[in-house]
This record gives sequence, C-alpha cells and structure tokens, in this order.
Amino acid sequence: MPLVSMRQLLDEAAKGGYGVGAFNVNNMEQIQAIMEAARESNSPVIIQASRGARSYSQDKFLYHLMLAAAELYPEIPLVMHLDHGNSVETCKSAIDLGFTSVMMDGSLMPDGKTPSSFEYNVKATREVVELAHAKGVTVEGEIGVLGGIEDGHGAGGTGLEHVTDPEQAVEFVEKTRVDALAIAIGTSHGAYKFTKKPDGSVLKMDVLIKIHQRLPKTHLVMHGSSSVPKDLQDVINQYGGKLKPTWGVPVEEIQLGIRNGVRKINVDTDNRLAITGAIRKVLAESPDKFDPRDYMKPARDAMREVCKARMKQFGQAGNAGKIKPATCKEFAKMYT
Ligand code: G3H
Ligand code: 13P
Ligand code: ZN
Repeated sequence: MPLVSMRQLLDEAAKGGYGVGAFNVNNMEQIQAIMEAARESNSPVIIQASRGARSYSQDKFLYHLMLAAAELYPEIPLVMHLDHGNSVETCKSAIDLGFTSVMMDGSLMPDGKTPSSFEYNVKATREVVELAHAKGVTVEGEIGVLGGIEDGHGAGGTGLEHVTDPEQAVEFVEKTRVDALAIAIGTSHGAYKFTKKPDGSVLKMDVLIKIHQRLPKTHLVMHGSSSVPKDLQDVINQYGGKLKPTWGVPVEEIQLGIRNGVRKINVDTDNRLAITGAIRKVLAESPDKFDPRDYMKPARDAMREVCKARMKQFGQAGNAGKIKPATCKEFAKMYT
C-alpha cells in the first residue's frame, strides 16, 4: 500500500469516533515496532519524524524505511508526517521528500523557542497549506504553545502559560484552512509533565471541549500525550536509571478528548521510556553481552507493546481494513 494522506485517516477516525496515535521515530527498530503493533491490532497508523529525527537519521533513510514499511505491511494505511515543522522551508523540504503530511508549528518562531504572534502564525501556516494542498499533502497547525522543550524545540515552562484561546482557534482555522489543529491545554513534551496525577487545574480538558464545541468539524490534535506509566519509570529506575517521580496524561483523559474531537494523539516519551528500560535491563542482567541485537530486539518488543496498547485505547484498532486508502495525488483533487 502506498503512503496515504493523513487527512483521509483523520476523516475516517471522525466517522468512526476514534483517535489515531502518532508515534515518533528516529530509526528502523521504532518503525518496525509501530508496524508490528499495527498489524497485530489491525490499526491505521501515523508515523512522525521531528526535525531532530530528520537530522539524526538523514531523513532519506527514514523515508526509505517508511517505503519498506508500506511494502511489507500492505494492509496497513500508513501516514508519514513531519512533526513540529519550524518554518515554511522545513515543511517544503518534507513535502519535496515525500512526506504525506506536515505540521507547520507557527506557534513558535523559526528558532523553535520564542512564542510567535497570531499574525505570523496565520501567515506561515497559510503559506504551507497552499503549497501542501496543491500536492494533496495534509497540514496540521498549532495555536497556543505547549510547555516543555524537546531536542531544543519548545518554549519551556509548565504548559499553562499559553493555553489556547477558543475564539482565536476559530479565527485561525478560518484563516489558514488547516486539516488538523494542535491545541495547548496544559500538556508539555517529555517525561516531566505533572507533579501529581493531573486534575482540571493543570490539564484543561474544559478548554478542549470548548474548542470542539466551536469547531465541531476540525480534527483536534493532542501533543505531549504520553501517559508516562509508573511501570515504565520503575523498570528504568530498577536498572540504574534516575528518573524523578512524574505523571503524564492519563489515558482516560485522552479518551475524553477523543469523545470531543481529538483525532490525532502524539506519543513519543512513552516509547522512549519503554526502549530505555528494556536496554537497561539487558545490560544490567547480562553485562557480558555486546551484540546490539541482544538489547535492540527487547527494546523493539517493548515499544511494540506500548504502541499496541495505545492503538487499542485510542480506538484505532480494528479499523485498518475498513479504509480504502487514497494517495496524496488522489487527495489533491479533494482540495481543489
Ligand atoms: O516534539 C516532540 C517529540 O517528542 C520529538 O522529539 O525533537 O527530540 O525528536 P525530538
Ligand atoms: P510526549 O513527549 O508526551 O510523548 O509528546 C510527543 C509529542 O507531542 C510529539 O510532537
Ligand atoms: Zn509535539
């Protein structure tokens, strides 16, 4: 199956009332973990690469690994998405390479740190929408700013400084015509999101619901949505890691989001935790081992199990076979 348009998967998810996990990758094992999880749960999937991932891997490697995934798992509708594009040029380079979906994160300036003005965000996002839609490529925009910082990208802070204003979200969607809208509701990237199980004072599900009421047809995206499960933290700490106690976004809050218009859920940290825990365990228990396959295989297995669990929890499981995939070329006609 060729790589497919993200807009199509999100439209299908809206029809079916489910969400689709978007998992970050940097290498072959992570792509394999996601594809195996998708096969075992019959799930459509979004695989995403950040700017950091593109430079770490040389993105052509990732692109060709993705083509291999599409060839080896022909029954799985698969989207290749750019996560947190920082400029029109970055999005354009991803589109030129063959990504079927891009995020123009104009909530930050191109330095990936400084919160931008509304006007800048609209202009940059609109520009990406025009060049992407001409090729049938999906565009995700962001309004409001997430907390935290990953790989040098992010405004830092707690996540509550720049929560999305629902009225501004409506204006943003009208002016940019994005396919999907990432919103800031108190989450942040990375492992340290909350100091205790989050309640409505720090995780603003009420804001998400207000945005959905005003934009019922817009596909909402939750970033910073790892749940940071205690069992994954424990494995790391048991084998010599030093993670401080922390809480992520509970799966039941994500499911509440899915009932209120969330169609794409970004998860990276949970997989990072699973991989690191599995590698630490092998190296601690078998210090004689030095073949990378001895620890990369358990790492891949651990990530597969996290992805499979999320696919079931988000409701995308069981839906791959129901989708008759459209390529971007076919989808370009929809936009015109
Ligand atoms: O944007 C957040 C993702 O977790 C990607 O992280 O920029 O370190 O690759 P990264
Ligand atoms: P986490 O750090 O919560 O996994 O979020 C990932 C993300 O939002 C990628 O864009
Ligand atoms: Zn993100």
